[in-house]
Amino acid sequence: RETSRLVVVSNRVAVPKARGAAGAQGGLAGALNAALKKRSGVWFGWSGQEVEQQTGEISTQTTDGVTTATIDLSKRDVDEYYNGYANSTLWPLFHYRLDLAEYERETGKGYERVNERFAQMLEPLVEPEDVVWIHDYHLIPLGERLRARGLKNRIGFFLHIPWPPTRLFVSLPFHERLVRTMLHYDLLGFQTKEWLESFLHYCRTELGAEVDDDSGAVTLEGRTTVARAYPIGIDWDHFSALGETGEARQAQQRLMSSTRHRTAMIGVDRLDYSKGLPERLDGISRFFDRHPDRVRDLVFVQVAPPSREDVESYKEIRALLERKAGQINGARSEVDLVPVRYVNRGYSHAQLFGFFRASKIGLVTPLRDGMNLVAKEYLAAQDPKDPGVLILSRFAGAAAQLGDAVLVNPHSPDDLSHAIRIALDMPLAERRERYEKLIGTVRDDNVQSWTEDFLRDLDAAGAR
Ligand code: G6P
Repeated sequence: RETSRLVVVSNRVAVPKARGAAGAQGGLAGALNAALKKRSGVWFGWSGQEVEQQTGEISTQTTDGVTTATIDLSKRDVDEYYNGYANSTLWPLFHYRLDLAEYERETGKGYERVNERFAQMLEPLVEPEDVVWIHDYHLIPLGERLRARGLKNRIGFFLHIPWPPTRLFVSLPFHERLVRTMLHYDLLGFQTKEWLESFLHYCRTELGAEVDDDSGAVTLEGRTTVARAYPIGIDWDHFSALGETGEARQAQQRLMSSTRHRTAMIGVDRLDYSKGLPERLDGISRFFDRHPDRVRDLVFVQVAPPSREDVESYKEIRALLERKAGQINGARSEVDLVPVRYVNRGYSHAQLFGFFRASKIGLVTPLRDGMNLVAKEYLAAQDPKDPGVLILSRFAGAAAQLGDAVLVNPHSPDDLSHAIRIALDMPLAERRERYEKLIGTVRDDNVQSWTEDFLRDLDAAGAR
C-alpha cells in the first residue's frame, strides 16, 4: 500500500517545463508538484488550451518520475464549465458573494458534461491499487462519475476554497445533487475547521445525514465518508532556499533602491474580487487622509496579475482598481513621489521572495479566502533579525493559524488605516516577538506535512 501510485486530478496542471515561468500560478499548482515528487504518479487535468473541436487525445509528458496527462477542452466547454459554472457560479458563491453568483442551467450542464469527460478520459489511466486525489471546486462530482464507471480505488477530494454557510449555499439550484456526489469520496478535506463545520452543518440539516463531529464521519443511506480539516502550507524548503539565489537578491535590491528611505508595503494577489483589493486601496487612502505628513514615509506596491479575464466580474474589478489606484496617485503624488505602484503582471517565486524581503509591511486582506499562501510566503521571506509586519484579514483561512499577525477587518477603511499605522511604528522587539510566534507554523505545517496528513488518512480509508 505504501507504494501505491498517486493519481492527482485538478483543473489546471503545472506541466514541469512551465514551472518557474512568471505567471498567475495559484496556490494549488505549486503545492501539488511537491506531493507528486514523493510517490511517482500521474497528474491529470486540462491543458489550458481551448480548441474548436475536441480530439479525445491525451498528451502525456514525464519529468522526474512525474507524468502529466492533459486534455484540451472545446470553446464551449471552457465557456460553460470553467468561465461559467466554476467561476461565475461556484467561485462567487463559495466566497460568500451571492451578489455576483450567476445560475444558468446551461453552464450547470456543461460542468456535469466536462466532469463526465474527465472521468471517461481518466479511467483507463487508473490502475486498481492507485490512490486518486481530486482537487477543488471545478471537479466536485468527478469522484461520483468515476464510481459510476466501477472504480473501487480510494478516492479523496480536497477543497481549496471556503465552504459557505448553509443559508448561503442553499441558494444554489440543485445544491443537494452536488453535495450528494461528494459522499462518494472516501475522504473530504477542507482548509479550516470553519469551512468543515459549515459542510457538516449542511449534511446534517439539509441531507439528514448522520454526522459524527469528532471523527468527521458523515453517513447517509448506509455509506460513510470522512470529512476533516487539513490547512495547506507552503513548500518551505524550496521557498526559504530562494533567499540564497541571485534572482531574489537582485529583486530585493531593485525594490529597496527604488524606495530608499521610504517603507515599502506590498500586496501580491491574483486580480480577483475575493482578494479585497479596492477595499485595501480605500484603507490606504484613509491612512493618507488621516496622516498627510506620512505620505512620504510609505510606498505601496500591489502586484496583481490578471485572472479569468473572460468573466465579466473580473473585467469590472480590474476597471475599478485602475480607477482607484489612479485616484490615489492623482491626489497624493508629487513630481518625485508616487504612493501606489500598481502592477498587472506576475513574477517568479524568487523575485517575489526578494520583494517580500524588501517590504517592511505585507498586506494580505482578502474579504474571504480558503487559506492564502501569500501570507505564509511573506513571513517565510523575512529576515529573522529584522522582520516585517504581516497585516492579515481575519477572513482568510490563514488567520486561524496566524493569529499573531496584525489581524484586520478588510471591510473597514479605518481598521486598515489603523493597522498600517501600527505596523509602520512597530518597534523591533515586537516585530521579532510576533515573527517568532508565527514562523514555526509556516515552517512546520508545510505542504509536505499537508500532503502526508491527507494521504495517510486516505490510505487508511479502506479500499472498497
Ligand atoms: C485558486 C483556486 C485554484 C486555481 C487558482 C488560479 O487558488 O483554488 O484551483 O487554480 O486559484 O485560478 P485559475 O482560474 O487561473 O486556475
